[in-house]
Amino acid sequence: MTPTRQSLEAFFTAKKDRELLSQLRIADVPRHVAIIMDGNGRWAAKRGLPRAAGHRAGVKAVRETLASAIELGIGYVTAYSFSSENWRRPAEEVDVLMSLFVEVLERELDSLQRLGIRVKVIGREDDVPPETMAAFRRTEKNTAANETLTFIVALNYGGRTEIVDATRAIAAKAAGGILDPSEVDELLVSSHLYTAGVPDPDLVIRTSGEMRLSNFLLWQVAYSELWICQTLWPDFSRHDLLRAVVDYQSRDRRFGASS
Ligand code: IPE
Ligand code: IPE
Ligand code: MG
Repeated sequence: MTPTRQSLEAFFTAKKDRELLSQLRIADVPRHVAIIMDGNGRWAAKRGLPRAAGHRAGVKAVRETLASAIELGIGYVTAYSFSSENWRRPAEEVDVLMSLFVEVLERELDSLQRLGIRVKVIGREDDVPPETMAAFRRTEKNTAANETLTFIVALNYGGRTEIVDATRAIAAKAAGGILDPSEVDELLVSSHLYTAGVPDPDLVIRTSGEMRLSNFLLWQVAYSELWICQTLWPDFSRHDLLRAVVDYQSRDRRFGASS
């Protein structure tokens, strides 16, 4: 979707948003925003609620983010929803998350279709409960023709594992004589990652203040701009996304060249 001043003003109506909006350059929004949705547990703890309540509340922020991304004309959103390290959490919390995915994918299908959102899942299938994987595969199939925004869900995702999987695939081709080692270059590696065909993120957002990547898209974020906010994920709003994008637009992306 190509936003206009009018369409943006109709969506961002709050006074604090309007001030930011006046600074936004419509033609220069990031093409791909990747988000480390962190802070669900802290959000729940602040309210004396179980962690599961924080994860449930986080769904609303995903909905708000996708709707806002569409309004801004962002083409790709990747959301870190479960890392390959998150299996270290108590089984009860993992179970809640795995069944929450199924529930939400089923409930939100109509809305995904209405908004024109294409869902893709990245990560290793192993260990993910079959019902959860099946719900994602069904959603991928049902939304495959949508073109407004691609929503990539990182599930049982680890950046290092992704690079290992790509390396294995490339090594297998080399061993099979399909590929000569001299043909291995950055483009070829990229095309063997889970994100093959997806542009690298321009902007990485992490909520709730932690200053680390936690094994997220290690190869792809080589030159991404980072934006970290204190907002806990369930409280993340269109205002926060707008703040991130306006801040992103103030950066000088040099890619190693001199300015
Ligand atoms: C992020 O919130 C959601 C997932 C990792 C699934 P957390 O659950 O990590 O929340 P905090 O960091 O404990 O507050
Ligand atoms: C990163 O958050 C993973 C997701 C948001 C899914 P974590 O809460 O797992 O990260 P750490 O443990 O603080 O690095
Ligand atoms: Mg966390």
